[in-house]
Amino acid sequence: RVLARAYHEKVISHYENPRNVGSLPKNDKDVGTGLVGAPACGDVMKLQIRVDENGVISDVKFKTFGCGSAIASSSYMTERVKGLKLEDAEKIKNTEIAKELSLPPVKLHCSMLAEDAIRSAIRDYRQKRSTMSDPKQKGF
Ligand code: FES
Ligand code: FES
Repeated sequence: RVLARAYHEKVISHYENPRNVGSLPKNDKDVGTGLVGAPACGDVMKLQIRVDENGVISDVKFKTFGCGSAIASSSYMTERVKGLKLEDAEKIKNTEIAKELSLPPVKLHCSMLAEDAIRSAIRDYRQKRSTMSDPKQKGF
């Protein structure tokens, strides 16, 4: 098949059988949402994390409107960050994903989308938390 020749097997596996596709409730206080786009091609990725009381990512979901490499990168990212502390999850580089999935250079920006998405989800979660710990915003 054309696809099998053009892409590495691991990409195919994540593309044909993406892990953790779906959504988490955006307004849940334990959920962080990252929504990012790739200017190069217009693809969009949404990645959401649920964080437990120890700062560990207990659940991850994604939806990607984009190419096979972007879908594979986000699928890989969800498996990679589940069970990680936020500090460790935000250190994951797109180069690691690209290497793991053997993405060709023209597809590097697809893996960048996954790096941006997890960082953006963590930022959203932290922002929610800091707003909540501000007594003025608690509605007292
Ligand atoms: Fe991104 Fe085709 S260029 S999906
Ligand atoms: Fe743009 Fe893959 S995300 S071509």
